[in-house]
Amino acid sequence: MTKRILVTSAIPYINGIKHLGNLIGSQLPADLFARYHRARGNEVLFLCATDEHGTPAELAAAKAGKPVDEFCAEMYQVQADIANRFGLSFDHFGRSSSDQNKALTQHFAGRLAEQGLINEVDEEQVYSHADGRFLPDRYIEGTCPNCGYDSARGDQCENCTKQLDPTDLIDARSAISGSTDLEVRKTRHLYLRQSAMRDTLNEWIDSKTDWPVLTTSIAKKWLNDGDGLQDRGITRDLHWGVPVKKGTEDWPGMDGKVFYVWFDAPIEYIACAGEWVDAGKGTDWERWWRTDKGADDVTYYQFMGKDNVPFHTLSFPSTILGSGEPWKLVDYIKSFNYLNYEGGQFSTSKGRGVFMDQALDILPADYWRWWLLSHVPETSDTEFTWEQFQQDTNKDLADVLGNFVSRVTKFCRSKFGEDVPAGGTYGDREQALMDALQTKLTSYQANMDAIEIRKAAADLRAMWVLGNEYLQSAEPWAVFKTDPDAAAAIIRLSLNLIPFYAALSSPFIPTMAKTMGDAMGVSDMAWPSDVTSALSSLPAGAPFTVPDNLAAKITDDQRADWAERFAGVRD
Ligand code: 2FM
Ligand code: ZN
Repeated sequence: MTKRILVTSAIPYINGIKHLGNLIGSQLPADLFARYHRARGNEVLFLCATDEHGTPAELAAAKAGKPVDEFCAEMYQVQADIANRFGLSFDHFGRSSSDQNKALTQHFAGRLAEQGLINEVDEEQVYSHADGRFLPDRYIEGTCPNCGYDSARGDQCENCTKQLDPTDLIDARSAISGSTDLEVRKTRHLYLRQSAMRDTLNEWIDSKTDWPVLTTSIAKKWLNDGDGLQDRGITRDLHWGVPVKKGTEDWPGMDGKVFYVWFDAPIEYIACAGEWVDAGKGTDWERWWRTDKGADDVTYYQFMGKDNVPFHTLSFPSTILGSGEPWKLVDYIKSFNYLNYEGGQFSTSKGRGVFMDQALDILPADYWRWWLLSHVPETSDTEFTWEQFQQDTNKDLADVLGNFVSRVTKFCRSKFGEDVPAGGTYGDREQALMDALQTKLTSYQANMDAIEIRKAAADLRAMWVLGNEYLQSAEPWAVFKTDPDAAAAIIRLSLNLIPFYAALSSPFIPTMAKTMGDAMGVSDMAWPSDVTSALSSLPAGAPFTVPDNLAAKITDDQRADWAERFAGVRD
């Protein structure tokens, strides 16, 4: 039966081009999953957007010397283009600054107020004399009261993931001027009464027994540790953001304030579906998001880095559940650890590591997709090194997969011509290969269904290896000398492996998969659930062409050059 699968990736901040650590922490695995489900014939809606509000955007625009709206419009185009070149197959790539998101964010705030879940609080916020303004969130830095990390930001410590308020920081300083001439001043803000949702959230998370431990452990930690779930300020003294309103009405006392970026960003997951419809790409967004309008048969998966987990397990569900309206809640949250870069961290603010545009300047997307996905930091932080990258991609993509495709097609062309050869029959060796492939394929599908990405990559690689081993032991080049018919059977089966690999590999390496499929004249890559029938899909006489080399090897010189080029920091 066709399933309906909603997939969202954490929406990247607008403040700059993302690095490979960001990419593998949400967008790329989400893309893999969306592509897999489309290939299985399921109905998929895959959404992502840019996260345009709040201090990250304001600070980056100031640095670029541009008005923030102009900066966001430009960076949106840049990010959309790079995402496209990486093969990220979003059904829509939206913007959290869209009108749809403004209206929906104000709607949720109004509903939460009606449900008694918003407190208006006269509170103390940090004001900087040197900067002449309040310093919310990232405008302020200091030492984390929870773990002692000395560069914690005013809204969250990226080291221990704790959500913070600016006044929590020890030895606070302005992120704009570095000034420590700070004062605590009174200002009125709205608080979401997350504490009132504690039991509901606990029960909900307890019911998710199949979630990754990383997700549930972070959620439980902030639900139950210390004082438990705290109420969160959802408004800010900033100019850029969604203006505070109660639905469509003004909110007395809140003039000139905006919602906190982490309040409106996840709402964009929903608003983005409205943007998708308004862009003419779909017809009914509520069918994906409202359980009273057809979304009750949708399974919803979210992908994100571990620092995003508290917002998706506590804050956003508080918004959804607290609204008292029948919105679709997430069914499965896949979260990731961090990818490090050559012994340190990737860092946007420090410009450290390889950024998405730079990666594409030196190699096609599929090299990165394959390496990153097959090393995705699922169970612990992992590390990118140039040496490992060279070694793994040369082996998997060039020596194993590329070499197989090239050897089989070239041998066939030279001995039988560019049609699948007739003659000969399959024997025990062929049956053994098909049995082994069927076992791996079953495991591959189970791991893809369970979003066990590393295991799925290992299964796929193992299927490529089986083909190579088969060719190596069947030796068609030797057999051909004495028994051309027997060699024809070996080559017929081997040629059939190419579209089989193309279909199975397409979620990981879509461009290489297409090259393989095109060479074999197969444009419609049906999912090969049954190995035996898939391996007879190209009959004798079917024409093919020898494709260009799938993946050139990375040379030692290239590796050394790139390691040096990306050793420093980006401007
Ligand atoms: O951490 C980040 O990059 C955030 N921009 C993610 C936001 S995800 C969401 F909730 F919208
Ligand atoms: Zn901390």
